[in-house]
Amino acid sequence: MTKSTASPYREDTMTHLNFFKKFKRFNPLEPSLSILSFFLVTLLFITFFFYLDYDSVVRGITWLGLHGSLSSSSSDNVKARPEFLDEGGDGCDVFDGNWKWDESYPLYQSQNCSFLDGGFRCTENGRPDSFYTKWRWQPKDCNLPRFDAVKMLEKLRNRRVVFVGDSIGRNHWESLLCMLSSAIPNKTSIYEVNGTPITKHSGFLVFKFDDFNCTVEYYRSPFLVVQGRAPAGAPKKVKLTLRVDRIDWIANKWRDADVLVFNAGHWWNYEKTIKVGCYFQEGKEVKMNMSVESAYRRSLETLIDWIGSQVNMSKTHVLFRTHSAVHFRGGDWNSGGGCHLEKLPDLGLLSAPSDIHFQTLSEMLTERANESQVMKLDLLKVTNMTSRRKDGHASIYYRGPDTGPASLHRQDCSHWCLPGVPDSWNELLYALLLKREFFGRGTSTKPSQPPL
Ligand SMILES: *[C@@H]1O[C@H](CO)[C@@H](O)[C@H](O)[C@H]1NC(C)=O
Ligand SMILES: *[C@@H]1O[C@H](CO)[C@@H](O)[C@H](O)[C@H]1NC(C)=O
Ligand SMILES: *[C@@H]1O[C@H](CO)[C@@H](O)[C@H](O)[C@H]1NC(C)=O
Ligand SMILES: *[C@@H]1O[C@H](CO)[C@@H](O)[C@H](O)[C@H]1NC(C)=O
Ligand SMILES: *[C@@H]1O[C@H](CO)[C@@H](O)[C@H](O)[C@H]1NC(C)=O
Ligand SMILES: *[C@@H]1O[C@H](CO)[C@@H](O)[C@H](O)[C@H]1NC(C)=O
Ligand SMILES: *[C@@H]1O[C@H](CO)[C@@H](O)[C@H](O)[C@H]1NC(C)=O
Repeated sequence: MTKSTASPYREDTMTHLNFFKKFKRFNPLEPSLSILSFFLVTLLFITFFFYLDYDSVVRGITWLGLHGSLSSSSSDNVKARPEFLDEGGDGCDVFDGNWKWDESYPLYQSQNCSFLDGGFRCTENGRPDSFYTKWRWQPKDCNLPRFDAVKMLEKLRNRRVVFVGDSIGRNHWESLLCMLSSAIPNKTSIYEVNGTPITKHSGFLVFKFDDFNCTVEYYRSPFLVVQGRAPAGAPKKVKLTLRVDRIDWIANKWRDADVLVFNAGHWWNYEKTIKVGCYFQEGKEVKMNMSVESAYRRSLETLIDWIGSQVNMSKTHVLFRTHSAVHFRGGDWNSGGGCHLEKLPDLGLLSAPSDIHFQTLSEMLTERANESQVMKLDLLKVTNMTSRRKDGHASIYYRGPDTGPASLHRQDCSHWCLPGVPDSWNELLYALLLKREFFGRGTSTKPSQPPL
């Protein structure tokens, strides 16, 4: 077992190894070309000439890098992390790590991606700084594979990827559309199957990548369970109910997906439920005293029951993305809180964010850990990593390029600018799918790590 002895939270000393590793990820299209990088591009070209395929180039450069580090006096304190996909990466907790500056990011430009809501196009909406696009997630004990859109599309041939949840799930889904489409020159070969334009209000959207017969779909279902009119005889203040024991009516559309990514949480609060007269219902009974948190828990149990009875987990890889952090300072979303001055992530030690929704999910899954659908469920544990990214939100730059920034009292510190933080969730998704050997053999069901 190789284990890094260097602190993950400190920039390692620049050795030959790191030097070459950095430039292995160098993107020759990046406008900020230094003389040094010009030299490396030249080197790449020469190497390319010799090897004539990308893998070998990378191997060649890695070899050069390792070779360099052997002769480096400081090689002892910079042991290479194993690759997550290699055997040495087994058991690596990819959610434990930190954000690392990487010149080769972002993975795409928002101007080049037509699949983005105006609300996520921060640069086009006037956000002046772009540091927030340059951070890569680096696990402490292993390296993630570099995202390869063509490889992912090849693996997704004839398959369906389905995102279900609230608008942060939509943020996540649009990020994947941009990441995948960046590799497709003919953009008209990617289209919504019903011709529905990207607007905030559609119930669902199904984008097809024609060349791969693959669809990447989003279903809006912020509570995951049925929301409807109050039953007859309910107290007058009950306007709506959430039927916490019934999965959303549209769930039959999710069932046969090949990759199914759930999320829920941002709507499970007092303001969006009881305050607006939306109470919780089980069977025919409105539970006037049920707390939001126990209702959330009950809805998650309903989800797990539904997965257990309806989803064939030998075919479908099911993931649940945990709560994404919000960063309102000096108020809440509806009382003038803001984040527009944040330009950098928190890279230092953070006290563990105590997120009530994450705790509820953990407790429920721990209690039901002996059920096979829970054992096969993967979590995308983004709560910790996102809590460090107060710089990544849309803040006042969510109103579209023609309207100008929003008022300082109406900021969006829950959704993320794109390109940005959700791209890293998709890099993790990519890594988990590859690690599970979901692609290809399709028989391996051994999880790479327990869900918690
Ligand atoms: C984005 O599109 C522009 C042309 O509109 C092109 O010059 C640029 O290389 C593209 N960037 C990426 C990262 O694809
Ligand atoms: C396209 O993919 C779907 C599954 O998403 C599959 O049912 C269908 O047979 C595929 N079509 C072709 C032509 O392979
Ligand atoms: C682009 O894709 C569309 C839809 O798949 C197809 O009809 C068209 O021929 C393609 N254009 C090129 C230049 O390949
Ligand atoms: C709800 O709680 C109140 C006080 O906490 C109690 O008086 C009432 O009987 C409870 N109602 C139900 C339906 O449990
Ligand atoms: C579940 O999926 C696997 C793999 O696609 C398939 O072989 C199996 O027949 C399916 N089971 C059921 C009950 O549909
Ligand atoms: C989040 O990070 C803290 C320390 O920074 C750690 O103690 C905690 O276990 C982490 N939580 C998860 C879910 O990874
Ligand atoms: C899981 O454990 C509980 C009690 O600990 C038991 O009642 C239940 O039947 C078990 N379920 C499975 C699928 O083994």
